[in-house]
Amino acid sequence: MPGLMPLQRYLTEHRQQFEDDLCELLRIPSVSADRNYAGDVRRAADWVAGRLSRLGFATELIETNGNPLVYAESPPVPGAPTVLVYGHYDVQPADPLDQWTSPPFEPTVRDGNLYARGATDDKGQMLTHVNSIQAWIETAGRLPLQVKFLIEGEEEVGSESLNKFLERSADKLACNVVVVSDTAQFAPGQPAITYGLRGIAYFELRLTGPKHDLHSGTFGGGVANPANALARMLAALVDDDGRVQVPGFYDDVIPLADRERAQFAALAFDEQAFMERIGVDGLTGEVGYTNLERRWARPTCDINGIWGGYQGEGGKTVLPSTAGAKFSFRLVPRQDPHRVAAGLRELLTRICPAGIRMELIEMHGAPGALVSLDSPYMQAAARAIELGFERPPVFIREGGSIPIVTAFAERLGVDTLLLGWGLDDDNAHGPNEKFSLADFHRGIRASAYLWQELAGQGI
Ligand code: BES
Ligand code: MN
Ligand code: MN
Repeated sequence: MPGLMPLQRYLTEHRQQFEDDLCELLRIPSVSADRNYAGDVRRAADWVAGRLSRLGFATELIETNGNPLVYAESPPVPGAPTVLVYGHYDVQPADPLDQWTSPPFEPTVRDGNLYARGATDDKGQMLTHVNSIQAWIETAGRLPLQVKFLIEGEEEVGSESLNKFLERSADKLACNVVVVSDTAQFAPGQPAITYGLRGIAYFELRLTGPKHDLHSGTFGGGVANPANALARMLAALVDDDGRVQVPGFYDDVIPLADRERAQFAALAFDEQAFMERIGVDGLTGEVGYTNLERRWARPTCDINGIWGGYQGEGGKTVLPSTAGAKFSFRLVPRQDPHRVAAGLRELLTRICPAGIRMELIEMHGAPGALVSLDSPYMQAAARAIELGFERPPVFIREGGSIPIVTAFAERLGVDTLLLGWGLDDDNAHGPNEKFSLADFHRGIRASAYLWQELAGQGI
């Protein structure tokens, strides 16, 4: 390290500055799912670009058909690897607003946690790398390896523009390994490296029956009801054993190896505490699998939103003209989102009742990812985390998706290190999203060690 002491001292002395900086970015409501926030999305991109150019990195805002990409790089270092740091400046919508204790875009500290939309996902985690690099540059004068930053604004809506950019710009992004901090630790005080992510296939289904709402007494029973049809069609997607009924769905699934099942089982997962934390009195899922297996390594289907008919106060006897739902499948490695879409269309077309018109919209998809555990870069990352968090990481998989990770492997030919500083009770995507400030600073410290450890691997 550049003299361990000066760097450590720098990190300690700049804690407040790092927090203030993060709050500035968190105040920008860069919601990518909602076009009304397009101006804020751009402001966030500008903010990130400004922050990276302050490091002295050659920085550009790359325009796309969607939201801009922020790219920045430091000079190459002969004999040392090049690292691509990926993250996202976009966030999920903040609703339901009335469930937030403090407003989502007014970052607030309570009990050592910083509350705001994007605090953990991904603004806070992404900035740990920016801050550790600032510390290196200001104490050592330069980084021990080349770092390229690629920060995008469409991760939460499927990374379409970045995917297109990757197709034509693999040269620019050439690197030896990708680093992403956009996942979680296994538990408080137990850091983790994630080596598997699930993929996703996301759909909207719209059903239309009669040309306007009808009296459910006069017409009910003799005219197909889109809400009834929707309930039946959605229910047909998963059977009582938790098996997805889309034709061909399991054909390409990589089964869980016994060794991996044993490793999951060896993790200290407390089912009772898990149930209490999320407020349920029972758990469910595919028959024959444990809870961690179901969430990390088995494919599934969830309805994300559902509508149709009367939702107001009191009762209204109506046969609605339309009904619809948004739903998504989580996929595991080798499952192809396009094949899932084709099978789904076949199934829904077959079971859609007479008198109902169906529109199935394929919104976005991404395959799942698995990263090799025995690369030297993986070992280097484990050492950096042990130094930063004062405890060695465990190796876990994750049920969520980071759509671009598989494209990094395919287009750049490199592995991605998923080094998450969050916690799984951070409420990402939910109300009262938070990030532990202690973990923010531990993440910065681990990141500072990471550059040293990766540089030591050579190319
Ligand atoms: N950071 C998450 C991925 C994640 C989720 C990591 C849970 C660890 C735990 C990422 O921002 C995310 O939310 N991805 C979306 C992708 C989708 C919208 C295409 C997801 O998984 O829903
Ligand atoms: Mn994220
Ligand atoms: Mn997210």
